[in-house]
Amino acid sequence: MKSEAEQFEKVGTVVYESSDEACRVLATEVASLIRQRKAASKNAVLGLATGSTPVPFYRELIRLHREEGLSFENVITFNLDEYFGLEPQHHESYFRFMRDQLFDHVNLPDSQIHIPPGMVTREEVYTACREYEAKIEAVGGIDLQILGIGRTGHIGFNEPGSSQDSLTRMITLDKITREDAARDFLGIENVPRFALTMGVGTILRARRIALMAWGENKADIVAKAVEGEVTEAISASFLQRHENAQFLLDRGASRSLTRVKHPWLVGPVKWDDQLIRRAVTWLSNRLEKPVLKLLDEDYNEHGMSDLLTECGPAYHLNIRIFNELQHTITGWPGGKPNEDDRYRPERALPYPKRSLFLVPEPMDDVPAVGGTINRLIEQGHRVDVVFLTSGNLGVSDGSVEHFATVLNDLAQGRGSNAWKEPVRYAGQLLGDLENKGPFGEDTAALRRLKGLVRRGEARQALHDCGMGADRIHFLDLPFYESGRYRRFASGEADVEALRECLTKFRPHQIYMTGSASDPSSVTGVCYRVFQSTLQKTAKRKWRSDCRIWLYRSSERPLGSYEIDMAVPMSPDQLKEKLSALSHYDHEPEGVSERDRMVARYYDQLGLANYEAIEAFQEWSE
Ligand code: GLP
Repeated sequence: MKSEAEQFEKVGTVVYESSDEACRVLATEVASLIRQRKAASKNAVLGLATGSTPVPFYRELIRLHREEGLSFENVITFNLDEYFGLEPQHHESYFRFMRDQLFDHVNLPDSQIHIPPGMVTREEVYTACREYEAKIEAVGGIDLQILGIGRTGHIGFNEPGSSQDSLTRMITLDKITREDAARDFLGIENVPRFALTMGVGTILRARRIALMAWGENKADIVAKAVEGEVTEAISASFLQRHENAQFLLDRGASRSLTRVKHPWLVGPVKWDDQLIRRAVTWLSNRLEKPVLKLLDEDYNEHGMSDLLTECGPAYHLNIRIFNELQHTITGWPGGKPNEDDRYRPERALPYPKRSLFLVPEPMDDVPAVGGTINRLIEQGHRVDVVFLTSGNLGVSDGSVEHFATVLNDLAQGRGSNAWKEPVRYAGQLLGDLENKGPFGEDTAALRRLKGLVRRGEARQALHDCGMGADRIHFLDLPFYESGRYRRFASGEADVEALRECLTKFRPHQIYMTGSASDPSSVTGVCYRVFQSTLQKTAKRKWRSDCRIWLYRSSERPLGSYEIDMAVPMSPDQLKEKLSALSHYDHEPEGVSERDRMVARYYDQLGLANYEAIEAFQEWSE
């Protein structure tokens, strides 16, 4: 039975506190399916997915196998898809992914594993796909199909335009999908253009379907698939037509559902300060009216009459929210010394402050907080920037080649002994590159050099924001150095490294990002390490005088109702920040649009009209 809150949802949807919790629930369901089937001497047939989303779910299955004796002997698996033309041993093939993430860690017989054959010739594709369908049918169909969701709303690789009845076939990958895979393949030019995928029809035949989605970047597409019309443009929306399909979401991925985003539209709510601010700014946006011009009837006509009863009339409520919003704006992110700070986001004292910026990967910093760093320095605070990971995975082989060639060229004709070592080093780098090929695992020497390339870019960009090199630090967290995109796993060593760092700096302010990210992304993993570190340092003296400000790097910007501190930028300040970005090998896109968009929020609400704004949310337990 659907609750009132779920009235807009056209398919079963459960929101969990965290992705870990959702994965535990789903893995428990899978385990009981496997055991029940075993008790009846039958097989359990699972449809499996790839991508970062199911990784924590597979880890939980592996744990159940190791610690609770869950056997996979009677399990048969069918994977959703595979890139066309990719060798099974390729680092990015789904075959390899499944081996690394699940199959090599449980007792699943090889003969019971099925993955669409990416290496068939074009002529063989049709037959191979028919055979795949036939194999699924021969074992009695799929009992439980696991799914993730792509940014285009695809399931498997069923890109927009896939019909409800489509079966296993070859498909051309959408541009967005290829862009999303570009990082894994070290450049979009390396991402295959085609894939084999189960069809929407194949998926819908499964007896039960569980679609998982984590992080705020998935929120909009999830809401469309769950609450919108069924459409070929979003293949996940077809799950609405299945009797036993369910979306399992973490809080980030649920954020655009009506019951989460606009709870007052689905039933009575308990109004708290944040919700009131959200409702009023939403109304102002919706009606394209400044906050101060909202009328009683505007509130009444949009499901907020109870809010007026509690906090009205509109005139009072409008002024209250207008003031709250106005108090978030400050040109003094470190607090304004010698001023009354009752209505300012940051306290005036201590002055100067020790402000610490934690940055998951080089390039997450300047685009999001470059202007704020600059202001803090100009206002006399001690600012340190700590890069949590080296970012070396994002540096191309071409940069290494370039470096080695320059070294060799420099040594040309110099014959002296001093050049022997650099030339040997250049030779080693070039040899390593050749041995590993374009997609092989980088050797330690390659990763180190790539890390240094990133360090150089990061230092130069921060230099333009006014930072001295001695205030820039690199933590190189171990989870990143031993990992690969979509498959990172942090541990004690990461938490310990960050704990030591925070204890050394004893900051008055920490700036951090990742609270709304996919938990398996670099920012998401870093945020979890940060959370654990906060728990470990909760009783330290410095913590009692430390405020934590959350920023958004590449994720969706904070909504106007979430912003606790808005640091405005003049046109010149924005220009300076953008020019600092030119130091990066690949300049991040959309930075000025994001900053301008936040400024527009404030303008639309009837506050000041700034060129751009960097926004922060205060962290609370
Ligand atoms: C690829 C896969 C999908 C997966 C999607 C999202 O397109 N073919 O099965 O759901 O990526 O990936 P991620 O979970 O990494 O966000």
